[in-house]
Amino acid sequence: MILTGKARLAGVVGWPISHSKSPRLHGYWLEKLAIDGAYLPLAVEPDNFEETLHGLMNAGFQGVNVTVPHKEAALRFCNEVDPLARRIGAVNTIIFKNGRSFGSNTDAFGFIENLRQNSDQLNFSSAKVVVLGAGGAARGVIVALQDAGVSNILLVNRTKTRSEALAQGVSEGQNNKIQVCAWEDRNNILSGADLLVNTTSLGMAGQPPLDLDLTGLPLSAVVTDIVYAPLITPLLDMARSRGNEIVDGLGMLLHQARPGFEAWFGEKPIVTPRLREFVLDA
Ligand code: ATR
Repeated sequence: MILTGKARLAGVVGWPISHSKSPRLHGYWLEKLAIDGAYLPLAVEPDNFEETLHGLMNAGFQGVNVTVPHKEAALRFCNEVDPLARRIGAVNTIIFKNGRSFGSNTDAFGFIENLRQNSDQLNFSSAKVVVLGAGGAARGVIVALQDAGVSNILLVNRTKTRSEALAQGVSEGQNNKIQVCAWEDRNNILSGADLLVNTTSLGMAGQPPLDLDLTGLPLSAVVTDIVYAPLITPLLDMARSRGNEIVDGLGMLLHQARPGFEAWFGEKPIVTPRLREFVLDA
């Protein structure tokens, strides 16, 4: 795409950034929709974050995505932050308008949308959900589940103090109950679950697999992993071979990108099987 002087600009700010799939993803939509615009990978060191964002805003950028390690700094940077991002404690999408910045977090939307579009049997309001892990990713997933109306959430993490802090942090002002379970009990709490979510880094390329015995998990349960490299993690592979429905983590990445794209470039992008292949084929 050759740009004109009126081209709309956006990008993803991270450190490092070379692994990011977002430029390819947004680039695909820009080309498909023949938009006069560009989406750039922006490698920005933590010390330069604020200065760079002011620079991008002053240079007329529509906004940016923000990734590791800047998501908390982005929350502090923005003039306004939406309530969901505040509850998650992280901003991943910023819109610049009239010299002001508006922050949101679309990871929760991406997580739920991926499940909604790829699993027909999930009923969020009555579901028992087991979430493994208590890092930043787990926080987004739990807030997303609470917002989708899930009232029965079991949280299990190797370091229990972390899951307790997380459960307490996201429960303020919410009706949903989060039950914190011991890591040693992770196999036992699977009985009766409708959804199992892995948010730990276990199973990611270069990491050991998650040590979990799925024997007690109902065959009707959906299993999802927010890890998408590899696409089929050892957990998803194990779940699929015993007959559970699985939802891989790539869809979350694709869907979380939609709100930002629409705000910056003015058109609604869609997630298709060809887009999935294109993003993976890098
Ligand atoms: P992120 O922000 O991407 O979620 P993180 O904050 O580093 O990343 O969290 C990684 C998660 O994977 C944590 O829940 C971590 O458990 P701890 O809180 O006990 O560290 C989990 N994790 C990583 N390696 C693990 C391992 N070998 N066994 C069990 N859990 C592990």
